[in-house]
Amino acid sequence: MKITKICCIGAGYVGGPTMAVIAQKCPDIKVTVVDLNEQRIKDWNDPNTDNIPIYEPGLSEIVAEARGRNLFFSTEVDKAIDEAEMIFISVNTPTKTYGKGKGMAADLKYIELCARQIARVAKQNKIVVEKSTLPVRTAEAIKSILDNTGNGVQFQILSNPEFLAEGTAVTDLLNPDRILIGGDTTPEGETAINALVDVYANWVTKDRILTTNVWSSELSKLTANAFLAQRISSINAMSELCEKTGADVSEVARAIGMDSRIGPKFLKASVGFGGSCFQKDILNLVYIAKTYGLNEVADYWEQVIIMNDHQKRRFSNKIVQTLYNTVADKKIAFLGWAFKKDTNDTRESAAIYVADDLINEQAKIAVYDPKVSKNKMLNDLDYLETRPSADNKDYLNAFDNAYEACKGAHAVAILTEWDEFTTYDWKKIYDSMHKPAFVFDGRNILNPKELEAIGFVYNRIGS
Ligand code: NAD
Ligand code: UDX
Repeated sequence: MKITKICCIGAGYVGGPTMAVIAQKCPDIKVTVVDLNEQRIKDWNDPNTDNIPIYEPGLSEIVAEARGRNLFFSTEVDKAIDEAEMIFISVNTPTKTYGKGKGMAADLKYIELCARQIARVAKQNKIVVEKSTLPVRTAEAIKSILDNTGNGVQFQILSNPEFLAEGTAVTDLLNPDRILIGGDTTPEGETAINALVDVYANWVTKDRILTTNVWSSELSKLTANAFLAQRISSINAMSELCEKTGADVSEVARAIGMDSRIGPKFLKASVGFGGSCFQKDILNLVYIAKTYGLNEVADYWEQVIIMNDHQKRRFSNKIVQTLYNTVADKKIAFLGWAFKKDTNDTRESAAIYVADDLINEQAKIAVYDPKVSKNKMLNDLDYLETRPSADNKDYLNAFDNAYEACKGAHAVAILTEWDEFTTYDWKKIYDSMHKPAFVFDGRNILNPKELEAIGFVYNRIGS
């Protein structure tokens, strides 16, 4: 079976870049990305591709090449579903904020809405692909909805989780470590799996395309994120011990990373991991384990989150303690607000929590981030509901220039590892600050010797 038309529901951080790359690599397939959010679709269709709603290195060029040729962004969801032989579901699956499983389980209401919409619209057989990250056995629920609509249409459900990381989405998509496709072991299931394998085979070698049963595929995604986040919490736990013992966490990471069984990646101690995935997916895993009564399994993984919360709080406490136990009315400059470099995404960014803690202490926060707007920063703080929105506006200010943000500050805190921060004239920043001038490097990106030679009191994670 050859796929000629794909529809993707959800034009977000996953749907947008993933479909742009499929369209670029498969010029014979018409790819339509749909979303209910009209503004988002309008932005994807902006004549100037530098204004597309998601910043990822290399993405605007791919959109410029494929958009209007075989890549389309639209709000006409029914039409795109009707046309397509293969439908990707790439909608958000946030942590539930209400009811049973509140604060832990994945909220599947958007997924269910998609399934019902597909069921209502479909007039021919379709392959439905779970691209969103979902709890294990979600495909069962989707299938039950699709099979009970009375249209007599046959559906095959595949699980095809996405492993891209933000900031490197395009290179990850172009050169993935592996593509994972889970499907039924029936002949129809295998036909569906092969149809999706053939799409990816346009640019990914077959030895990197892994096929499994649906449940293994769904659970592998949660497992991969849990393992990755666990490495960060493990090294962050060691960073606290390093600070007490005179060891240096970067040296420890290097030493253990050279063991080929451990490997060097994902061992950077930091102010704590953020992003839309790690916390949400681990909480979901913990919830699933609990529903099966696997309390030890649940507790084991929950520690990864507990450690991460501790690391964020430890960073803000350190700032307060070092600044003589009071930051009231002191200007603290934040370099970075995004949850990592090279993205404009701020979901669960450590910066939000550190700012919230410091505002509780009545500090004045002055932020510079090359890709994040002041509005987004304020929305992130308001979302925590710690204080009235007007107060957040009083305490947080944003600057479009790092030197301005740092002028008159008592301390500079580095929250995101943007490359440009390492190229600054730190002497100029020092001269414009109150003395003693403190730097809290939450990403260990600056050179301690250089900063100390300038006169800074320099603090980093894990040494
Ligand atoms: P997102 O919030 O950026 O995008 C989701 C989009 O879906 C939104 O634009 C929303 O308007 C749209 N949507 C929701 N319900 C809809 C409906 N019924 N019809 C049409 N559009 C609808 O989310 P995201 O970051 O792209 O994540 C999507 C999924 O991919 C999640 O399950 C996430 O866990 C997973 N994932 C994310 C990443 C990542 O790096 N962000 C990586 C791997 C997997
Ligand atoms: C993650 C997974 O890596 C990706 O495979 C999955 O598809 C989505 O979730 P993402 O959250 O976009 O991707 O970025 P990632 O590079 O994993 O970083 C997550 C957080 O961990 C960031 O805040 C980052 O700064 C932090 N991090 C990462 C560390 O603190 N130390 C590290 O060594 C690596």
